[in-house]
Amino acid sequence: MAGVIIPSDPEEYKDVVSKLLSRYGYKISPPAFGSRGYMLEVEKNGRKFAVLLKNHKVKCNVAQIEKFLDLLETKDMKRFDGGWFISASGFSKPALTYLESLQSKKLYIWNHIDKNLSRMYPTLGSNHIGQLQPEDPFRQKYFGIFTCKGGVGKTTIAAHLAGAFALMGYDVVLLDLDPEKNLRKLFMQGTDDESPSLYIPSTNAARPGSTITVLNHDEWEPSHYRDMQIIICDCSPVLEQNPAELVKLFDYCIVPTTLTPLGIAKNADVITRTFRHIRQMNKNAAMFALINGYDRSEVFAARNKKLLEHLAAHLSGYTKTDTLCHFIHPDDAAIRFSTILQYWGFHLIDGSKPQLSFSEQRGKNHPRTDFLRLAEYLEDHTAIEELRKAGEYELQ
Ligand SMILES: Nc1ncnc2c1ncn2[C@@H]1O[C@H](COP(=O)(O)OP(=O)(O)OP(=O)(O)O)[C@@H](O)[C@H]1O
Ligand SMILES: [Mg+2]
Repeated sequence: MAGVIIPSDPEEYKDVVSKLLSRYGYKISPPAFGSRGYMLEVEKNGRKFAVLLKNHKVKCNVAQIEKFLDLLETKDMKRFDGGWFISASGFSKPALTYLESLQSKKLYIWNHIDKNLSRMYPTLGSNHIGQLQPEDPFRQKYFGIFTCKGGVGKTTIAAHLAGAFALMGYDVVLLDLDPEKNLRKLFMQGTDDESPSLYIPSTNAARPGSTITVLNHDEWEPSHYRDMQIIICDCSPVLEQNPAELVKLFDYCIVPTTLTPLGIAKNADVITRTFRHIRQMNKNAAMFALINGYDRSEVFAARNKKLLEHLAAHLSGYTKTDTLCHFIHPDDAAIRFSTILQYWGFHLIDGSKPQLSFSEQRGKNHPRTDFLRLAEYLEDHTAIEELRKAGEYELQ
């Protein structure tokens, strides 16, 4: 890929960055009248940042960072959630050392290289993760599949949601956090298969297919999988058995539940307990309760309606206080009960080739339809779509 020439004219450079950020879903506007010290205002998901741009020939230094930090403390800047300092010429060694010891919750530092912005501060992987930070379109997104109840379909959903995302063009890592380590077995091509993976051919001739890579928690090394856009974690129903450092990384959490009187239990307790558990460890994750094993038959319509009303009434008390928690109404997405899913994993018994439950049976496949619909719902309600677009953008 040819390098992008950074224009020396500040106005032209502003256009380059504006274009880049708008491709990642940011709304760009000029600074408010009379404001000084920054060049752009960017907004996404209700959060606003002031952006300082430096397209210098020499590296940016400590004094420039200090000046911007001071600006962020002024009264006029209180309306922002923070400030972005973007440099097209990198940062000097003393500046990098300075950033190592800096403790600011308002400052974000980016290096602009070619068509990428990589974040220098707060560094990814440090203890800043999990605290308030701008929606980072360049970081891969983590999904946790978790309910504090066994056998509700976590593993089935983790694997097939990975399949649906792969069909849509994302490269996915499927990470097994459950000490039972079922996922790996489910994807292994043979007894000596050390790194199970699945290639999902593209449904669109214009782009290549995607991969699902299956890893146990102890094999996870984020720096080796930077080009994977989505990490899906299949969790143990016992929260403490899941590695805390990964639960803290979840951007999104899918909470499978069954729509049965015992499944939702008294006052939808299982779901709210799950929401609460995750929230104690992770302040930022958006959570989505999803019905699994749903039956859309007309004969159950009246009972399902009653159960849904019961569930919605009891969940609303909780979701009012934690607005990042949502219930996915089955009209939008739900996973139907299906015999193909019930027998998924049969290859472990008969030694056949591992595959997802996406092949057609008599011209129909409910799991594929349901999981694609779920993946589309998630594209509409999360910030993942930009990752796919970013991939396409880089291919140009
Ligand atoms: N929509 C569905 N239709 C039919 N069978 C399903 C469906 N979802 C899951 N199952 C079946 O239910 C069983 C439990 O599913 P799964 O192992 O995915 O649950 P889990 O929540 O991961 O369980 P655990 O808590 O033990 O990890 C499996 O046999 C699976 O095939
Ligand atoms: Mg499981």
